[in-house]
Amino acid sequence: MATREEIEEIRARVDILDVISRYVTVRPSGKNHVAICPFHPDTAPSLTISAEKGLFHCFGCGEGGDVFRFLMKIERIEFPEAVSRLAAQAGVTLTSERKNVEGLAQLRELAERVTRHYERHLKEPVGRRAWDYLQERGLKPETIARFRLGYAPPAGEDLLKAFRGSEEALSHLGVLMEGERGCWSFFRDRVIFPVLSSQGEVVGFAGRTLGDEEPKYLNTKNTPLFEKSRLLYGLPGARAAFTQHGEALLVEGYIDVMMSHQHGFTHAVASMGTAFTAEQARLLKRYVSRVLIAYDRDVAGRAATLRGMKQLLSAGLEVSIVLLPAGEDPDELLRREGREAFQALLQQAMPFPEFYVQALLEEHSARTLRGQEQILESTHVFLADLKSPALRSQILKELSGSLDIPMEDLLMGMKGREASVIIASGAPERPSWGVEEHLMHLMLQGEYPIERAMRELTPQDFPRFSRAIETLFTLCREEATPPTRLAGARSPQFLNEWLSRLDPEDQKELRELAISERRDVDSEKAIAQLMGQLRLASVERRLTALEREIKASQKCQDSAAIRRWQQEQQELFKERRQLLRQMGWGASSAKGGGR
Ligand code: UTP
Ligand code: MN
Repeated sequence: MATREEIEEIRARVDILDVISRYVTVRPSGKNHVAICPFHPDTAPSLTISAEKGLFHCFGCGEGGDVFRFLMKIERIEFPEAVSRLAAQAGVTLTSERKNVEGLAQLRELAERVTRHYERHLKEPVGRRAWDYLQERGLKPETIARFRLGYAPPAGEDLLKAFRGSEEALSHLGVLMEGERGCWSFFRDRVIFPVLSSQGEVVGFAGRTLGDEEPKYLNTKNTPLFEKSRLLYGLPGARAAFTQHGEALLVEGYIDVMMSHQHGFTHAVASMGTAFTAEQARLLKRYVSRVLIAYDRDVAGRAATLRGMKQLLSAGLEVSIVLLPAGEDPDELLRREGREAFQALLQQAMPFPEFYVQALLEEHSARTLRGQEQILESTHVFLADLKSPALRSQILKELSGSLDIPMEDLLMGMKGREASVIIASGAPERPSWGVEEHLMHLMLQGEYPIERAMRELTPQDFPRFSRAIETLFTLCREEATPPTRLAGARSPQFLNEWLSRLDPEDQKELRELAISERRDVDSEKAIAQLMGQLRLASVERRLTALEREIKASQKCQDSAAIRRWQQEQQELFKERRQLLRQMGWGASSAKGGGR
């Protein structure tokens, strides 16, 4: 189990926005970010994320908490698992996991040795057929060497013999299978394509048959080293070209990448058979601002592919689609028609909005009412969580032109509030606040210092939040150097500590207030006003109580008590008048504060 220090270290290093945007598309909204909530069927973006506070909160379903909580919920894992995953990502080595890290380094080293082993086989007589196959496919020896291709011979005991004693590590790596009758190699009689991390280390393998047998490609399973959804085939070799051109060429297959590189298109990478993920999009975004997609025609128009493209768009990348001849991939095109033909196609790539509308028009008939409705419906869903307003309006413009429907009508068709969300990208309505909520909000924004609250307020002034305030004050007294306000570097940790001591209802409410944006123009004036209202409410409460006391004392004719109560009553009347005057209300409008 991780220590408290380790947990805080992770919290400080991990960006909650980073983590959440791996699962949902987030977009900025004021100081915060918003997204469609993944925890309930959501249409408006109800999930709000405050990177600064390290919090997320859904105004729809009430789910919320810190980065650990998010990972637990979305991955359905327990706290320790969430800690260990985020630790890995933050580069924090948990004392309890030191051994694992050493294990990982050993695994990496083994992956490298296995790669060399396969490379060697490709040059030996046993690899002759594989070598010939690669020649036949038009791959030059330099390309084969650069991508470190290899060959796994048909014999199932090949790896066992070469790496005696490392059975367990080999099976961890995914290259050895364990069964009742012992172990055997996962890849047999296949060309091996090592998959490298962006740092250039071998982390996994793919193997292709030499013929047409199925499955054509096998990939090693996901391992601690190898997570397909976070890797791009060809990335280490493409990085230099990325920075040079500011552009990436996205293709489908291993051979497409290799052939592209061989023909000078060294900015080619592939997502390895899966739909493009948000992680892969963010990986690309580190290096480039534009992506050209050269997928097989009919693959490119598929819904899953379009979703993958959306990941790229959401990462803020500009996307264009290369229109290859039907049924062809870059590999075939390059072989048949060569470099110039491919270059020409790249130059004529179609900007995404145009491509998107065209794909829709190919799928549905724009001539029927039903078809038009389906087109609008798909677009609606597609646009709903698309970050860029500019891109949204480009797509709508394109659609408006193609369907010959005016923009305004398109927007009208997209159901009331959702349309306004699409256009204005505003957050959903929040319930209104009373005085306590306002003051608490200012405190949570760091505008009303805790220090000052401790001087000016008592928990009893906050009937709604008395326990929360009590806890906050206690926490401050416990700490040697408590933060003076709930803002700045230490605030996420402190806020989390505070919230974790409250019951779930209070947690939820405070999270909501912490993450809400409602900026008062002059917070000093607002604080004064709110303090006055709070104090007034408190006075009113005491006056009501006093009335009861006086009645009770009158009943038992306790004149000393009556006098005492009445004196306090007079003082409170005076204070009330003063407060009302300060707050700019006439003495006559004896309307209490509170809610
Ligand atoms: P394709 O079926 O389009 O094959 O798969 P390809 O790239 O043209 O392969 P070649 O040219 O016949 O060698 C595209 C990509 O999908 C993944 C691989 O990453 C492949 O490169 N794939 C395909 C698999 O992972 N497994 C398979 O069985 C097939
Ligand atoms: Mn191919």
